[in-house]
This record gives sequence, structure tokens and C-alpha cells, in this order.
Amino acid sequence: MEYRGYDSAGVAVVADGAISYRKKAGKIVNLVADLEANPLPDSGLGIGHTRWATHGGPTDANAHPHVSTGDRVALIHNGIIENFAVLRAELEAEGTEFTSETDSEAAAQLLGREVSAGVDLADAMRAVCNRLEGAFTLVAVDALEPHRLVAARRNSPLVVGVGDGENFVASDVSAFIEFTRFAIELGQDQVVDVTADSIVVTDFAGNPADTHPFEVTWDLSAAEKSGYDWFMRKEIYEQPRAVADTLLGRYNTDGSLKLDELHIPESELRLVDKIVIVACGTAYYAGLVAKYAIEHWTRIACEVEIASEFRYRDPIITRSTLVVTLSQSGETADTLMAIRHAREQHAKVIAICNTNGATIPRESDAVIYTHAGPEIGVASTKGFLTQVAACYLLGLYLAQVRGTMYDDEIHAVMAELAATPPLIQKVLDELDPIKELAKRFIDQKSVLFLGRHVGYPVALEGALKLKEIAYLHAEGFPAGELKHGPIALVEEGIPIFIIVPPQGRDQLHDKVVSNIQEVRARGALTIVLAEEGDHEVDPYADVLFRLPKVSTLLQPLVATVPLQMFACELATLKGYDVDQPRNLAKSVTVE
Ligand code: G6P
Repeated sequence: MEYRGYDSAGVAVVADGAISYRKKAGKIVNLVADLEANPLPDSGLGIGHTRWATHGGPTDANAHPHVSTGDRVALIHNGIIENFAVLRAELEAEGTEFTSETDSEAAAQLLGREVSAGVDLADAMRAVCNRLEGAFTLVAVDALEPHRLVAARRNSPLVVGVGDGENFVASDVSAFIEFTRFAIELGQDQVVDVTADSIVVTDFAGNPADTHPFEVTWDLSAAEKSGYDWFMRKEIYEQPRAVADTLLGRYNTDGSLKLDELHIPESELRLVDKIVIVACGTAYYAGLVAKYAIEHWTRIACEVEIASEFRYRDPIITRSTLVVTLSQSGETADTLMAIRHAREQHAKVIAICNTNGATIPRESDAVIYTHAGPEIGVASTKGFLTQVAACYLLGLYLAQVRGTMYDDEIHAVMAELAATPPLIQKVLDELDPIKELAKRFIDQKSVLFLGRHVGYPVALEGALKLKEIAYLHAEGFPAGELKHGPIALVEEGIPIFIIVPPQGRDQLHDKVVSNIQEVRARGALTIVLAEEGDHEVDPYADVLFRLPKVSTLLQPLVATVPLQMFACELATLKGYDVDQPRNLAKSVTVE
């Protein structure tokens, strides 16, 4: 689970009527070294946690599990307990001494107080949950119950793994996929009481609750590096298959679309008068790409908004607004809150998501799963390409339902989309020069990316990848906007990546070629991504990468790939941890 947070880690086990635990700042290797030096007793019951700090720095003391005074219970927490200060003051007034600066310890101490007073562990967990505000997944064990754990969730993920004579709880199925593919998805505000042979789920009031069992369709090898140095590199190479799997079964042989999973009547889709795409990070950039296609194909106005900004500015959402959320993990708190807000305004919400059983698809009206397989590298790659592909399926489907494109036009676009996986593979097969180029960037301080139309979000994504994993200042700009400000940044030797639209089939091609000349005239080192056969760019490209010929709207599916690999290669050369870049986490379950 380390990809979800890696600034500290800890484990606790129950054995011989006591809780034993170790916790260490830094990555899991530090904890492993500590455990090797000071092993924990054998036990059949344990909890573990990797942390992404919110309240309190990444120290040993702030690492989880948190153990209540007197060592009665140990508890781990994901999320943020917003009213922790009030709870902490109440407990301190009673004489409880806190040993960390975290919000989480308040939950551990509250639970310890209840259990020490003789309350049953699950009842105590429900009582604690009813006092907490904010987002939380909690898992706890009691020193006197060596065969039982309880867990709870609100606004933060929790799944149960159902084994044979053994059971598991985790934030994500990859934690237990080695042991079982059978899982149960917990709903909002539920508590699960688990032993090796039983799983009992209730709501926070103690009433039996409905659960949703599911079977994980991928196996352990999908969550392993399989010989690659980084998950990110493996995931970059998986993109042809990931895109193909996302398209699979969603169009007929004649090229018409079938999105059976939508479950939103066509009559309602015909009434949609605005689409709002909401997402964070890389998914937001996928949304920016999708806007160009969706507006062009459906003639419905489409806005794209960063999820954390969306809810709090009182956006104009009505019953006829279609909100489309993009989230690889399906757990991003900002995106989840945006969905809740949209549904309160009676908008229909379609989630495009990669994670079965996650909170975002569960809280949406419909879901289109991207079948990318687990994405573990923190910087998203196959997530981006598959989100673009899924948005395109949705855009074409809306065009089909609303009659804004002729059938043969839809079929032609669909045929081209279905033909992209081998083209993505071709880009992957020809990446050696990009790897060579990275060697020239080790001491580089700043890099710019330029693109127009769908090339603009590709530029943003190329820059984001460099920021995220190579810690390099990088900015993406719309090439046409250059002259209105960013061109002042251009100085002798500054590298600028330019994504060139298809030649002869795109009205912006020549304008971008002019932009290349403008920056080159001012001393920039131009790194040009242009399609095969486009020789107009040759005189102005200091470095030239060829892209397969595709139409403009499909170009992001091939043009993003070299930029991903460039960042991966540069971060590797700089000696950084590509899969676990500093300060980031894969799934950000706090607002
Ligand atoms: C985090 C990750 C990004 C990701 C973003 C959205 O910030 O570090 O790589 O793009 O979340 O994630 P989602 O799971 O919602 O697509």
C-alpha cells in the first residue's frame, strides 16, 4: 500500500494479551529494518499503515498505529478528523496524555476510553464514529481480543478481502490480492467486525447493512513490477493494452457505440444542455482534452473544472447539466465532494473511473470503467490515456443519441480510435531518442511546453510529469498565448517542447510552426513532436520526434507518451524514486 503514502509507516499485532507495535518515519524500508532488529511476537492479527501526513510532521511518534493510554487499543486512520481539537481537549481535561500531534490519536484515545470502560469493540467503534466529523477510515484492534478487528469508513475507502479461514481489510484490493480475489465493498458510514471466519457489517447505529461483494478481475502480477525498474515505466508500456481494453466491447462491428453500463435513459441524455467535467491533476488534463472532442461532436457546451474549485464557487448546475468526473482511483476527496454537490443540485453524474468498488463510482448515477488495470506509480500515465479514450466513447455515444453526427462520421472516428493501440505501441518502440535526450537535462532548471487545441493539455501534462517526478520547474502554455507573456521567459538555451498538430489536416499546423520559429529566433532549444512526413518543421527543430499520423483529436493518445517517458527517464537519471515522488500520494483522500 506504500503508493498511497510513504512518509512513515507502522504495524501493530495482538499477542499474549497485549499490543506490540513499531512505527518509523520514512519509507517502509526503515520500518522493515526496525522490525528485523526488534521482531514483533507471532500473531494472527495485525494492522499496518503507511502515512501521508496531514496533522503533524512525518515523525516516529506521529506514525500510525496510535495506541490508547494503557495500551488497550491500537488504531490506524486515513482521512482528516475535522473536530479533533475539541475531542482532544475533552480527553486531555480527563487526564489523557497524547503522545502525537495527529488528529488520528483523538480517535484512538476515544476508542480506548470506551473499550476500557467495558464497551464491546464494535459498539465502541460505532460510538466513536458518531462523534467524529470529517473523513475517516479507521481500523482498530483490542489487546484482549486476539481474533477480532473492527473497521469503519466515512468519505474514505475501505474494502474487505474474503479469504478461506482468514479475512482482510484494506484501503485497496491490491493489499490482499495475493491471498484472495473476493472482496466486499463497504458503503458510506459502515462498520465491519471481522474475525478469521466472520464478517459482520452494520451502519453507525448498529443496524445490519447491505454490502456489495465483487470479484477482482486482475491478479497479483498486475500489481507487480514484472522486471521493470519502476511501476511507472511498466504502466507507460501497458498503454496500448490499457486503451484497447477500455474500448473493448463498447462499440459494434459497424462502429456504432454501445455503452450498456450508462443506465441513463436516452431521453434524459437528449435533454442535457451543458456538460461539466470535474477532476484533479492528470485526470483534469484528460478532461481538458475531452472538452475539444465532446463540444465538437455533440455541440453541447462543455466546461472543465478542477474539482477542488468546483464545489466552493456555487457553480451553475441544473437538472439538465451532465457532470462527468474523471478519477483513476475513484477515491479523490475533492472529486467526491464535487459529485455530492452536483447531485444535490439534481444533476446527473457519470464517473469515468479505473477502480471497481471505489467510492466515486458508487456515488455516481452511472460509471464507465477504464480497464487500465491497477495503476501504482504515483504519477498517472495509463490513467490519462484511458480517461481520454473513455471520454471519447462517451462523446461519440452522446453524438449518436442526439444525432449531432452522421452515423458514418461516428463510425469513422470510432474506427480510428480503435486503431490507436498499435500506434501507441509504435511510439513506445521508438522511444530510445527520448531516453538519450534526458541525459542532456540533468542540470536543467526550467523547461517549457507548447501546444494548441488538444496539444495544449498535452503540454500541460508533459510539464506536470516533469514537476511531479523530476522536480523540475516546467510550464505548459497554449502556443498562441506565448506572445502575450510567456515568451519573456525564453532565453538562450531554454528547452521548449512543442507539440505540432497534423500537417495539412489541421488549420493550426502552420501557426504552431511559426511559434517554433519565434522561440528559436530567441535562442530556445526546440524539441519538436510532429507527425511522420511533416518536413515543414525540419529546419526549426533542434530535436525532432516523429508521431504516427492520426487526426487532431486523437493526437494526445500518441503525443503524451514520449513526454511521460522523458520525465520517467530524467527522474531515473537524477536518482529520484520515480514511483514515490516526494510529498505526493497516489490517492488523495483528503480535501
Ligand atoms: C493525485 C495524484 C495524481 C492524480 C490525481 C487525481 O494528486 O498524485 O497523479 O492525477 O491525484 O487522481 P485520480 O485518482 O482522481 O485520477
